[in-house]
Amino acid sequence: MEEIILVEQSGPIFGEVHLAGAKNAVLVIMASLLLVQGKSVLKNVPASADVEQMIKLLTSLGAVITFDQINKVLTLDATHIENYSIDHSAMRKMRASVLVMGPLLARLGRITLTYPGGCTIGTRPIDYHIKNFKRMGVIIHESDGFLNAETGNLQSTRLVLEYPSVGATENLLMAATLAQGVTQIVNAALEPEVLDLIAVLQKMGAEIAITSPATITIKGVSKLKPVEYTVMHDRLEAGTLLLAAAVTGGEILVHDMSFAHMDVFLLKLEEMGHIIKTDHNNISLRATKYPRAVSFKTSPFPGFPTDLQAPMMVAQCLAEGVSVVEETVFENRLVHCLELQKMGAQIKFDTARAQITGVNQLYGAHVIASDIRASAALVLAGLAAQGQTTISGVDHFRRGYDGFDVKLRALGAAVNIVQVGNFNLAGNKKNLIDSI
Ligand code: EPZ
Repeated sequence: MEEIILVEQSGPIFGEVHLAGAKNAVLVIMASLLLVQGKSVLKNVPASADVEQMIKLLTSLGAVITFDQINKVLTLDATHIENYSIDHSAMRKMRASVLVMGPLLARLGRITLTYPGGCTIGTRPIDYHIKNFKRMGVIIHESDGFLNAETGNLQSTRLVLEYPSVGATENLLMAATLAQGVTQIVNAALEPEVLDLIAVLQKMGAEIAITSPATITIKGVSKLKPVEYTVMHDRLEAGTLLLAAAVTGGEILVHDMSFAHMDVFLLKLEEMGHIIKTDHNNISLRATKYPRAVSFKTSPFPGFPTDLQAPMMVAQCLAEGVSVVEETVFENRLVHCLELQKMGAQIKFDTARAQITGVNQLYGAHVIASDIRASAALVLAGLAAQGQTTISGVDHFRRGYDGFDVKLRALGAAVNIVQVGNFNLAGNKKNLIDSI
């Protein structure tokens, strides 16, 4: 039976919260364990649908995995990796599946996969990955949507990314750790999640250095060793929780997060008038009653993160004045504007730019989440909106977060994932099956 997220207008949320492990770090770190023969242990692993999907994918390749979802501890033994074929359903379900390409080419010298699906936010090609693997001596044949890649041995060389792609940086970096000689990745992505991957690889024995401007130098080694590692906390969950306090006029203390992972985002919250306090490992926000409009442009780290663009837009919808958002990372990541308009937001937008005129009130409606971050944004909008909001697309929400609804409820927010019985999604509530 279909599930929806049911959100009621919530008073100021208030309290302290601890963060889950970062989705965009743990998925690539799990893939990196394919480089190692032996059993590794990862801590602070979020129990999200994407982690479950990555477990399925790596198990299909021969890895032996356990995951203690209560204590957030995952073990992975990649001693026997024989399979190098990634099936279409894995690629379609989760784009991050492409991140096994670098480790498998380094470990087995082969991989066959289908193109990772695009999604609503963009076509999301992998041309940067492909052209640079070819420069490393990988022979890649593409036909009917399938990629067959193989190499006798990876060659170290100087790789130049025309755009600091997170996934391309990570894939090439992982492959280079076992390539003989010195590989350089110029114009690399240096998001905190990439740095977390580098820290794991270095702990495995990889020789990696970062020099400016944004160049990663890798000296290949013959073998890497199993590790025990604690995954970084999720800066995107942190930002969304801070925004939950901002849009409900509340106050929150977020533990386990360094301001250095979100300086530009915090700057924009301060420009709106919210009171931000930080120390080395915590961030607090006390909401202003009169938020001011603020504009921003998304860009690679350390710029404003594209993954906080949709949640931030909810705060802009309720701010005094006109805000402008320019989305420069993905070509179609403003679809959530349509859903916010259904809730009374005043937004003019095209595929790359949105102009938001603040309103005094949003109104509950039935809305549809189109991606992970849009689902979080619509929850925030529902917390602020008068009445009840129902959100379809719960799978996106479950993919990106570990019990985010539980955290919000603990802070006083009325958010529940419920099964739809005779609930008329037009908002005429008939009767709701028990919430789960
Ligand atoms: C990672 O995606 C994240 N996903 C994304 O988070 C995040 O939004 C993105 O980085 C940017 O920070 C994971 O880490 C699992 P990119 P990735 O390669 O690696 C284009 C979320 O909600 N491009 O930096 O796919 C691409 O189309 C997700 O958690 C090419 O053209 O992002 C995009 O426009 C969404 N060719 C831009 O570069 C390529 O070969 C940035 O993509 C690769 C990318």
